[in-house]
Amino acid sequence: MTNIVKKIFFLSILSFNICSLTIVSGNSHAEVSSPLVLEWITKGNLVLEENIFIRSFLEAYKDFSEDLLGIKQNKAEWLREAFKQEQEELNEGIPEIFFVSAKKDSKIVGFASFNRTKNPDEVYIRQLAVDSTYWHQGIGKKLVFSIGEKIEGIKKYVLVTRRINTIAKRFYEKLGFKECEYTHEGLDPKKYVGYELTITKK
Ligand SMILES: CC(C)(COP(=O)(O)OP(=O)(O)OC[C@H]1O[C@@H](n2cnc3c(N)ncnc32)[C@H](O)[C@@H]1OP(=O)(O)O)[C@@H](O)C(=O)NCCC(=O)NCCS
Repeated sequence: MTNIVKKIFFLSILSFNICSLTIVSGNSHAEVSSPLVLEWITKGNLVLEENIFIRSFLEAYKDFSEDLLGIKQNKAEWLREAFKQEQEELNEGIPEIFFVSAKKDSKIVGFASFNRTKNPDEVYIRQLAVDSTYWHQGIGKKLVFSIGEKIEGIKKYVLVTRRINTIAKRFYEKLGFKECEYTHEGLDPKKYVGYELTITKK
């Protein structure tokens, strides 16, 4: 009888310890976040970045219909095409295009692409997307300013975004960007707005 009681006692202590270990290791895993690694890419089949592009923009545009966006395809198809064009231009090897992927916890969590404009100290932000499960961790900001580390002498950043993309607008405004006249031929100013940021000091 005493032996049975001892065994039950021992087993309950053991199971308590196993549970505690699981909880502790679970917590410690969640708390330890790996650093962000940026990788400059010159060519490739960027399937993971494509998925992030599509999912993050679907999230940003979740409240807007195809009609409101002024597109004929469904949103996912439209985004796939946009990314395909981006990737094709990168793979053409145009030296003025820069593409950076951000990796965290051993997975791709975002990317940005840039090109120089006709002004030698100016860079245009072509695309930027962060996996929505990683939003608000400063990854977008790091991606935007990564180009300043890659090429010297950048004094000005410009971009164009959709007026309805309030997430992007708030993000750029938080980074210090101001609305401006910058645009591309053919873009409807009712739908698109330009932003710029001039770097005064490195
Ligand atoms: C825009 C985007 C890249 C921002 O990425 P992110 O990694 O979350 O950005 P950061 O964490 O660096 O944000 C920096 C600041 O911008 C502001 N910001 C970012 N996302 C915001 C949001 N959803 N709403 C309001 N402000 C936002 C915040 O002030 C934030 O700082 P905080 O988190 O300390 O408050 C991301 O939301 C995204 O992928 N959106 C969909 C794709 C897109 O619209 N790309 C831009 C096209 S021009």
